[in-house]
Amino acid sequence: MNKNFSEIQMVDLVNDYLLNKKEFDKSLNEVLLKGDYINGSQVTKFSENFSNLLDIKYVVPCANGTDALQIALMSLDLKQGDEVIVPAFTYAATAEVIGLLKLKPILVDVCPKTFNISYDEVLKALSTKTKVIIPVHLFGQCADMEPIVKLAKKKRHIYYRGCCTINRSQIYF
Ligand SMILES: Cc1ncc(COP(=O)(O)O)c(C=O)c1O
Repeated sequence: MNKNFSEIQMVDLVNDYLLNKKEFDKSLNEVLLKGDYINGSQVTKFSENFSNLLDIKYVVPCANGTDALQIALMSLDLKQGDEVIVPAFTYAATAEVIGLLKLKPILVDVCPKTFNISYDEVLKALSTKTKVIIPVHLFGQCADMEPIVKLAKKKRHIYYRGCCTINRSQIYF
């Protein structure tokens, strides 16, 4: 590769770190020196800040986005083979946790314009075993939630929003 160009990373964690290195190092050292991890003071502080930021009452801090998806599904009374509709284009974890809980991921295509789940494809994928729909918001763009929320409410399906790459999004409808 030409020395004047650097490779563009899909997820550039190193540069993310370097951009805020001082702050990261300071916080990391505080945690390491205190040794309080699960439910530690930094976690509590994060929960409070995050619930204020999103203006929501409850936050369940977890180790990562995969755990968050798994915990959300585990909180429901789902049985083996129940179907969960997810976009075919998403991070692997969305479907991975469904399989892990012995549920059935039903992959549906995305809109070519937004790369987010297509409502029309969700409609085609519905079955008597559908229990949950998980639209994922990718690349800072919200999925077309209005028809999906209406559908889920009408059919009494649960819907979750995969927000790993888009926090603080607001959808008005
Ligand atoms: C849409 C989406 N869902 C889930 C995950 C999983 O998050 P984590 O890697 O923190 O487990 C990611 C991670 O990038 C993601 O982009």
